[in-house]
Amino acid sequence: MGSDKPQQVRAMFARIAHRYDLMNRLMTGGQDLRWRRRAIQRCGLRPGARLLDVGTGTGDLAAEALRQCPGALVVGCDFTLPMMHRGRQKPGRARIRWVAGDALRLPFPDATFDAVVTGFVMRNVADPDQAFREQARVTRPSGRVVCLEAVRPPLRWWLPFYRLYFHRLVPLLGALIAGDEEAYAYLSRSVAGFFTLEELAAAMARAGLRVQEVQTFMGGTVGLIVGVRP
Ligand SMILES: C[S@@+](CC[C@H](N)C(=O)[O-])C[C@H]1O[C@@H](n2cnc3c(N)ncnc32)[C@H](O)[C@@H]1O
Repeated sequence: MGSDKPQQVRAMFARIAHRYDLMNRLMTGGQDLRWRRRAIQRCGLRPGARLLDVGTGTGDLAAEALRQCPGALVVGCDFTLPMMHRGRQKPGRARIRWVAGDALRLPFPDATFDAVVTGFVMRNVADPDQAFREQARVTRPSGRVVCLEAVRPPLRWWLPFYRLYFHRLVPLLGALIAGDEEAYAYLSRSVAGFFTLEELAAAMARAGLRVQEVQTFMGGTVGLIVGVRP
């Protein structure tokens, strides 16, 4: 994707919105639910806390936040309206505040939120450094920025099997279930061309956040990074 990456990303997620959640469950064997629970736990929410879920998509992280902390104010922000429309139709999403907006220019004043979370978004933005800067800007001092993301995996003996699964089977699954092989081929390519976990943590640090904790899932192919705004 070149300079029109945002338009392409938006069009792609609009195309697959109707099958997005099902594909997540199938691709990860349901593990993504556990990673989401962990990501929200790390946001450290208390009743009355304000959480922003950037690139909320169908709102799975936002919904998990309200499940863990019913007294929180949870805002989901995304630039693909069909993803949010899909999410709004799901049960238990009535209390999410859905906001259309760009992760690179968040439509919120400085220090608005106690925590900001992203799930599988940073790979898709044109400028990850700018996205982290924006997340840091809208987080209050001592608030948390939590990033859950698929990263370029470490070198391991099982890498050929991972590649076979991710680069061959996942696009096939995308063709069969979502009717869109290209979108899921993009998913594999976007991970292959993205940061390692260490590089992603370094990008967070460049935005002025103090990296407090790093966890990995699925053999290091998915990472969770917790940053604190000084
Ligand atoms: C892979 S989905 C993740 C959705 C959700 N966070 C989850 O955990 O399932 C990526 C989402 O990021 C959104 N996105 C990508 N770039 C964005 C940007 N610059 N501004 C706002 N949303 C963006 C896409 O529209 C899409 O809904």
